[in-house]
Amino acid sequence: MTRDQARSKIIFALDFDTFNAAKHWVSLLSGRVGMFKVGKQLFTAHGPDIVRMIENFGAGVFLDLKYHDIPNTVAMASREAARLRVKLFNVHALGGYEMMARTAEMLRTEFPERERPRVLAVTILTSSNEETLKRVGIDRPVEEMVVRLARLANRAGIDGVVASPREVPLIREACGPDFLIVTPGVRPSFASTDDQKRVMTPAEAVAAGSDYLVIGRPISAASDPLQAVEVIVDEIAGV
Ligand code: C5P
Repeated sequence: MTRDQARSKIIFALDFDTFNAAKHWVSLLSGRVGMFKVGKQLFTAHGPDIVRMIENFGAGVFLDLKYHDIPNTVAMASREAARLRVKLFNVHALGGYEMMARTAEMLRTEFPERERPRVLAVTILTSSNEETLKRVGIDRPVEEMVVRLARLANRAGIDGVVASPREVPLIREACGPDFLIVTPGVRPSFASTDDQKRVMTPAEAVAAGSDYLVIGRPISAASDPLQAVEVIVDEIAGV
């Protein structure tokens, strides 16, 4: 893989609380990573202006708001995400088949195929385990639920999933080569593991079948963030 292809797989997580901090990181990293992820904290504080700021740098946005509501509400919110021209956004697969199918269909009928955002499903949050699932009445192993929800999302016309690196091979097998798999929780060989418990390196995740990697602190907390990006790019390009 070329270094540019490797670069395009990196999604930098903008986990910051101020507009200026976010802007600083976008100006530093745009052109060096593939996309920027905007989550609930930044979006709740600053809204669509954050998305526009990133796009003004010519960079793509992954809007990580994990919609979960009745089908109509999620489809309408998704339309607004598409109007913001984000490249990726996500919904919770536990919102159900109809919620996902309505959203996928809306995107395909209202936006040109090449320009429409790709929509991902979150299966089971990695903060959940068998115990937490039991308490909400789901009496199944986590891995079984992850694969089941990924298949459901695939059948509903969703483009891919967010998944932990360990889940990638199972999902790839269940959903085929065109299904996008985006993995957070990777740690380059030089970085500390922070609070990420089950980690793989970016190279391992890509070798296992990840299409995109969400990476935050290994870059933001590095003493030289630009160098950290280049090391990660090298690691991925070496796959
Ligand atoms: O700093 P770090 O590289 O751990 O950031 C990873 C990003 O991916 C964070 O924005 C985090 O919220 C997100 N994420 C994650 N694990 C998941 C889902 C999302 O770390 N299972």
